[in-house]
Amino acid sequence: MSRPLSTTTPSSACGSSSSSPPSPSSPRRPSRLTRETLPSSSIRVLRSVDSLRAWRNPLRQDHRTVGLVPTMGALHEGHLALIRAAAAECHHVVVSLFLNPAQFGRNEDLSSYPSTWDADAARLARLDRSLADDAANLGRLSAVFAPAVHDMYPEGFPGQDPSSDGSFVTITPLGRLLEGASRPTFFRGVATVCTKLFNAVQPDRVYFGQKDAQQAVLIRRLVRDFLIPTQVVVVPTVRESDGLALSSRNVYLGARRRNVAPVLHDALLAAERAYASPHAAARDRDSILGPARDVAASVLAAQTALPASQRALFEVDYLSLSDPDTMEELETVDPARGAILSGAIKMLPAEDPQPGEDLGHSDGPSVRLIDNIVLKPVTP
Ligand code: PAF
Repeated sequence: MSRPLSTTTPSSACGSSSSSPPSPSSPRRPSRLTRETLPSSSIRVLRSVDSLRAWRNPLRQDHRTVGLVPTMGALHEGHLALIRAAAAECHHVVVSLFLNPAQFGRNEDLSSYPSTWDADAARLARLDRSLADDAANLGRLSAVFAPAVHDMYPEGFPGQDPSSDGSFVTITPLGRLLEGASRPTFFRGVATVCTKLFNAVQPDRVYFGQKDAQQAVLIRRLVRDFLIPTQVVVVPTVRESDGLALSSRNVYLGARRRNVAPVLHDALLAAERAYASPHAAARDRDSILGPARDVAASVLAAQTALPASQRALFEVDYLSLSDPDTMEELETVDPARGAILSGAIKMLPAEDPQPGEDLGHSDGPSVRLIDNIVLKPVTP
């Protein structure tokens, strides 16, 4: 990851970019008298918990509200929607960019995860200028928190096995269900890093995407159970025009698999339609999830019938109808509580790749896609 520095003296607001990027393992740190900013912006870059706290503390004394948008970088429109939501209601927005090793299993894509610091910096600077142009916003994007692994994990690189020792936050059984069943250390890693981020930033509000429905439920639980004084705001999923939910991992897909990837959203839409149908039977699990399974099965059958060089195959990990607060599976939906329809599929690597074919980032490994639709509670 290249991380160019832009430094200004305290009296100057905007940064100018420097030409030689530091290595990610030993980021070049500006002297005490300089303030690093993202190029062409006044957005502060804070690379340690100490510098974050030095930035944060005076804001509390001035009664300024702070919104935190946690990310792992590889920013897309979904992240920008979170930042816009935060700027609408907070005086200062801080975006964390931290690729959290603890939420990746040993065999997952930590080493190939898209790392796009320059593009992220340019997007954030552009977004901040547009936030400034909109007088309806309460605040701006004030800072990026981009710590090193040793800042977030003072004991060193965190364990990635379920049995690893370490200082972890676990939330069970929620963290074991659905995504947690396939990724046993994922929610432990998310809960742990978010606890650290919340302790470091002490945000008034934190912003998460509905796209990661189980993560949003887990964060609400974390904040409630650990008495963390922040408000959790969940922002609607941003989608491509064909319904595919935006995700940093979509870059792995390549053109062939990208065409088939909306199958998950289409399946969930079929389930949502079944729930909305006027028949009373439409409230039970099989009547709701059956149509979703049918959509997935028919798309898979159509792909399987194609020549290997053209098709994109996938495996369905789960299609779920779950309680909106516990994520436990439901047999029937109580309309007064609503439910979450969610699913995960694994897009398999393209078979028989053709010369010059766009296979996606890192030559198109298996990609896990998740999505969900909320069946909102209705008041009688
Ligand atoms: O949703 C994500 O990008 C990550 O899980 C998060 C919340 C930034 C924690 O690393």
